[in-house]
Amino acid sequence: MTKGVNSAPNKASLSLKKASSKHKTLQDALTLEKHPLEVSSVNSNPNSEAEASINSHVTVLLDEAVHALAIKPNGIYVDGTFGRGGHSKKILAQLGAAGRLIAFDRDLSAIEAGKAIDDPRFSMVHSHFAAMQKKLAEMGVTQVDGILLDIGISSPQIDEASRGFSFRYDAPLDMRMDQSSGKTAAEFLAITTEQQLSEVIKNYGEERFAKPIARAIITERNDGRAITTTGQLAKVVAGAVTRFEPGQNPATRTFQALRIFINQELEELSLTMPQCLALLAPQGRLAVISFHSLEDRIVKQFIRDQENRDNLPANFPVRASELPQPKLVAVGKAIKPSAAEVKRNPRSRSAVLRVAERTSVL
Ligand SMILES: C[S@@+](CC[C@H](N)C(=O)[O-])C[C@H]1O[C@@H](n2cnc3c(N)ncnc32)[C@H](O)[C@@H]1O
Repeated sequence: MTKGVNSAPNKASLSLKKASSKHKTLQDALTLEKHPLEVSSVNSNPNSEAEASINSHVTVLLDEAVHALAIKPNGIYVDGTFGRGGHSKKILAQLGAAGRLIAFDRDLSAIEAGKAIDDPRFSMVHSHFAAMQKKLAEMGVTQVDGILLDIGISSPQIDEASRGFSFRYDAPLDMRMDQSSGKTAAEFLAITTEQQLSEVIKNYGEERFAKPIARAIITERNDGRAITTTGQLAKVVAGAVTRFEPGQNPATRTFQALRIFINQELEELSLTMPQCLALLAPQGRLAVISFHSLEDRIVKQFIRDQENRDNLPANFPVRASELPQPKLVAVGKAIKPSAAEVKRNPRSRSAVLRVAERTSVL
């Protein structure tokens, strides 16, 4: 079954103010990792890499993530980020005849790829994962045994020039993961203010030249040269950055920031974590792979907040047994790809997998 539903929240509703204050508190701990799919192509061969991956995505932490779900053969599982189905196929291989896998993706090409899986145990839903609980309820599913999120962008998305995610090609500046809804990056640049743009670039890209970059973009627009292509944007950004980082295209951070903003990536994750908790059956597992320190922080903090029973003042007279019991507990420590995986697939290098288990506490 393929459902053509999409209800991505309006980007205009995104509270930039809220994002800014949140990120101020994160600033110290924030180490902006270059997204593995957005690193400058200086050391790679973009053509061969792109050709190879327009229709394929090398799944990251495949064994680790599926193992972390501790699949019950007759369980119900959710893959919130189908991509090209690497994790989904492995989950299906471990499910029995009565098992079920429901996969989500907001990208129409991913949905097309999902149609190739002809398996009665499998359903594909076109939706952003922040609508997971609602979409599952519409399918009569209120409890599941495991949820996987492998967030971020896929290789086909970055390598298909027309998607407008990459400064490696000159193409229309789109950057929407869901091609069917929302504003493109070009449309956003046509209406944003210098102040808002500067905040987006600073908060989501941790770009120290955010202000001059925003000024240069708005100046171009005001001079009648609206920025509508990736090539134009990369050129204007390069002109505004006065100190380059070795081995990195000067537009890397700006492209990353716009992508995160356009797709509301952090908001999606923050809205979805509580839904995962609400959906998981006792002993159900949540496995989240993130590629950016801001995303990983949201996941880590959510699990920690759920685990933390002890929010009482020091020396408060209460027995351990009287403390409320956690609904979710972390399983092991954060898992990173092995050296062998990073060698095999350099795009995996900033991945972090966190796993948590739902307890029986109501
Ligand atoms: C890293 S890829 C997943 C790859 C997949 N695990 C595989 O093995 O092929 C991320 C996918 O998640 C999708 N995605 C990212 N954010 C999403 C969101 N908020 N809702 C739904 N899909 C999302 C992207 O469109 C992309 O296809």
